[in-house]
Amino acid sequence: MAERVAILLAAGVSSRMNTHLPKVLHEVTGRPMLAYVLDACRSVGVDRIYVVVGFGADQVKERFAEDAADIVWVQQPKQLGTAHAVKCCQEHLRDFAGQTLVLCGDGPLIRAKTLQTLIEKHEAEHSAATLATAVLDDPTGYGRIIRDAYGNMQGIIEDSDCTPAQRAVKEVNPSYYLFNNQVLFRALENVKPDNVKQEYYLTDALSVLIATGHKVVAITAVRPEEAVGVNSRAQLSVASKIMQHRIQQELMEHGVTIVDPDNTWIDARARIGQDTVIEPFVYIHGEVKIGRDCRIGPFAYLRHGTVIGDDVVLGVFTELKNTSLADGVRARHHSYLGDAVIGRNVNVGAGSITANFDGQSINRTTVGDDCYIGSGTVLIAPLVLPPGANVGAGLVVSQRNVEDL
Ligand code: UD1
Ligand code: CA
Repeated sequence: MAERVAILLAAGVSSRMNTHLPKVLHEVTGRPMLAYVLDACRSVGVDRIYVVVGFGADQVKERFAEDAADIVWVQQPKQLGTAHAVKCCQEHLRDFAGQTLVLCGDGPLIRAKTLQTLIEKHEAEHSAATLATAVLDDPTGYGRIIRDAYGNMQGIIEDSDCTPAQRAVKEVNPSYYLFNNQVLFRALENVKPDNVKQEYYLTDALSVLIATGHKVVAITAVRPEEAVGVNSRAQLSVASKIMQHRIQQELMEHGVTIVDPDNTWIDARARIGQDTVIEPFVYIHGEVKIGRDCRIGPFAYLRHGTVIGDDVVLGVFTELKNTSLADGVRARHHSYLGDAVIGRNVNVGAGSITANFDGQSINRTTVGDDCYIGSGTVLIAPLVLPPGANVGAGLVVSQRNVEDL
C-alpha cells in the first residue's frame, strides 16, 4: 500500500460567516466541521494529517487537543490562498514520495467512500493528480471544471474568474484532491496569483500539471449533497440539515423509529438502541445514549451526558442533563432532571424537578430503585433518596427532611 498523508486547509478568515470563531469550529449537528473531515481521512488510512491553521489557530488546536495524535499543526502566517496554504507544509513534506490527500476543513459532508473511490481511481490510472467532482443544479460560488471536447479536464476556473460561458458549467470542484506529493510541490512553484482575488489558487496547480504534461483525472464521484462547502451561515444550515438526514437514516437502519424526521434533531454523537421510538419534536444535543425499547417525546430535550437504559418512557417537556436513568423509568410530563442518577422503575410524577444548582455549585441527586415521586416534587440536591421511597405530591425534599418521608 502506498504511503499516504493528508493536508487539511483550515486557516481562512471566513469573512462571509461574519464570525469571531474560526470557521472550521462552527458546529454541524454538534461537532465542529473539521472533525468530520478528520474522520473521513482517518477512515481511508493516512499516516499523518497536516492541518494548516492561521486565523484563530490557538482555538482550533485547543479544541482538538485530545484528538491530535496523528495531527501536525502547520501555521499559515498570512492567508494568501489555498495553494499558499498547501505550500506551508513544504518543510514537512519535501522528501515525502507518497500520496497526499488535500481537503478543506469547511467541507464536512465528505464521505469516506468518496475518498476510497478517489484513491482507487488514482492508483488504477497512475495519475499525477486525481480529483472528485460533482454536478450541481446551482454551481454558483464553486470552481468550475473545464473540459475539452473529448471530456479531458483542462483546468478549474474559480467562480469570480469565469466567463459567462464558463459560469454556465454545472460540474464543480468540491476540493477533494489526491496528488503524488513530489509532483504537487513542484507544481506549486509555478502557481501565480493572476486572478481577480490576487490569491494563490490550489486549483491553478492542476492547470500547471496539465500544461506540463502530467496526467490529471477528474471523476464525477461526488453526490450534490456531499459537495456543499460552508462559506456562509446559510450554507452551514444546509450542511447541518444534510448531516441530520444522514444521522437519522443510519439510526433508522439500526432499528430506531423516528416518527417525524423533519421535526426531530439528533446530535451526531447520540447512540440509540433498537426498537426505541423517537416521537416528533425531540431535540437531542451532545453525547447522549438511549437504550432499547424506549419511547422518547414528543417534545423532549435530552442534553449532554444523558444515559438512558432500556424500556424508559419520557413524555412531553422532559428535560435531562448529565443524568442517567436506569431501565423502566417513567417521566411522562414536564420534568427536569439534572445531574441525577435515577434507579430502576422509578416513576417521576408530572412537573417534578431536581433543584441541582444552589446559585454557586451544581449538586447531584440520587434516587434509588423503585422510588415513587409524586407530581410537583422538588428534589433539592445534594440528595440521596433510598430505594423504594415514596414521595407524595407537591413536596420539597432535601437531605434534612428525607428521614420523614
Ligand atoms: C475553494 C476552491 C473552489 C471550490 C471550493 C469548494 C480554491 C482557489 N477554490 O473555493 O474551486 O469549488 O473551495 O468548496 O481553492 N484556506 C486556507 N488558507 C488560505 C485560504 C483558504 O487555509 O489562504 C482554507 C479555508 O479555511 C477553507 C479552504 O481553504 O477551509 C477553502 O478556502 P475558501 O476561501 O473557502 O475557498 P472557496 O472560495 O470556497
Ligand atoms: Ca469554502
